[in-house]
Amino acid sequence: MSRTPYLGLHVPPRDGARRVTAADIVASVQREVGAGALPAGSRLPPVRALERQLGLSKNTAQAAYDELVARGVVEARPREGVFVLAAHTLAPAGASIATAPLLAVVPPPLARMDAPAPGALALSTVFVDPDLLPADRLADCARAVLRDRMPTFYDPQGFPPLRAAIARRLRDRGLDVEPDEVIVTTGSQQSLDIVARAMSARVIALESPVYSYAKLLFQTLGHELVGLPLDPFRGLDLAAWERALAARPGLAYLIPSFQNPTGYSYTSAELRGVLALCAKYGVAILEDDWGSDMLSDGEHRPGLRMLGGKNVLYVNSFTKKLLPSLRIGFVVAPPALVPTLVGMKRLSTLGNAWLTEAIVAEFLDRGYYDTHLAQLQRALDERYTACLAALDELMPDGVTWTRPGGGPTLWLEVPERVNLGALEAHLARRGVTISNGSVAFVGDARRLHGFRVAYAFLGLEPMRVALTIVADAIRGALA
Ligand SMILES: Cc1ncc(COP(=O)(O)O)c(C=O)c1O
Repeated sequence: MSRTPYLGLHVPPRDGARRVTAADIVASVQREVGAGALPAGSRLPPVRALERQLGLSKNTAQAAYDELVARGVVEARPREGVFVLAAHTLAPAGASIATAPLLAVVPPPLARMDAPAPGALALSTVFVDPDLLPADRLADCARAVLRDRMPTFYDPQGFPPLRAAIARRLRDRGLDVEPDEVIVTTGSQQSLDIVARAMSARVIALESPVYSYAKLLFQTLGHELVGLPLDPFRGLDLAAWERALAARPGLAYLIPSFQNPTGYSYTSAELRGVLALCAKYGVAILEDDWGSDMLSDGEHRPGLRMLGGKNVLYVNSFTKKLLPSLRIGFVVAPPALVPTLVGMKRLSTLGNAWLTEAIVAEFLDRGYYDTHLAQLQRALDERYTACLAALDELMPDGVTWTRPGGGPTLWLEVPERVNLGALEAHLARRGVTISNGSVAFVGDARRLHGFRVAYAFLGLEPMRVALTIVADAIRGALA
């Protein structure tokens, strides 16, 4: 049986005296019991612990406790210790400690978990099917790290071999990146967090619709948001973007490849156009490149950091493509910004787990990542093709969709008269999850009426079942 923890006692000696006496202990305990600071049932320190703490000569503590027992203030329970008795716990009126108020908080910014429920036909998720992820090879790497290279410390910028491997990979893709410019983060979400905390301006421009947790994060950190309308069927309306950017927000947060949630990728002309507008109005850029290495044939799309140079902040992540539980992402920043961003990360986490960072470094070093990406892309291509074929076959007239050609999702646009909230609720009852997307829009920059359809998570058969249910539901809503 575990023992009740004992309370610490503070026993000052009488004025001028050097040593605490048994009488001092008795007086202190009586005072504290009377004031309610030692409630009924409190355990006093064991005799030896009190002697050590106060530097008492032998028997002093025992004599004090004997006196307290005799006065009926405490009781000695064999093998358990010395406890304050109930009769003495009634604190004098007015001496009770006030109850602290409940912490005042903002409404919860997020309601539900991200991971799809087991068995759900999750059409909205951006996660990749776990069956396509290299858990076994990662486990091999983990064993090797634990056996031979277990990190014993950490620093807030991240495990140096991982930063070097990331820089090398990016250089191979034409990005001019040094290891010292890489900060490893807990997923790219932490990269967004430290950048948004660090910036001195308080206005961020971002696509609408956009990855909703970026929007919610920036809002929660107190930023004002400006929507940049994005229509994946017509491309970027750069005139509208110019009007928004002319107000000179501090930052433009942009997802130029396989944009979440629309699947749209900027054309080369749009990449250049956006860079020119941001240069013209002095708007810094944070490029979220979550998707550029999710393209068939190991090809990579050009991006803003590649074309726009080192001032463009660049974010990417291993979480979706490697294993969600690793939670490893990174931000690449120009050298002048690295100390501030590292400082922000340090304030929130001190540093992240080098153990997982070492496992990912090992995985990259062994060349496993490229093999894995190639396999993953083949599997995703197959699902993408099957998804397009099923949509062609199943969807009623009036429904349209994007053809991103990579990444994990496309956008399904439905006629205005389909009530998206009602559709989401109806599908949920039939085991299919979609997200009606309203939270993804910024301000009133809403030009779309649809939702994201994922083809990376479900196998071919369940995906077809899910799309059949969606098509029937839309047909029902239109009837
Ligand atoms: C566009 C985009 N950026 C960033 C993230 C954050 O992901 P993670 O923190 O897992 O890297 C997500 C997650 O879905 C995303 O869709």
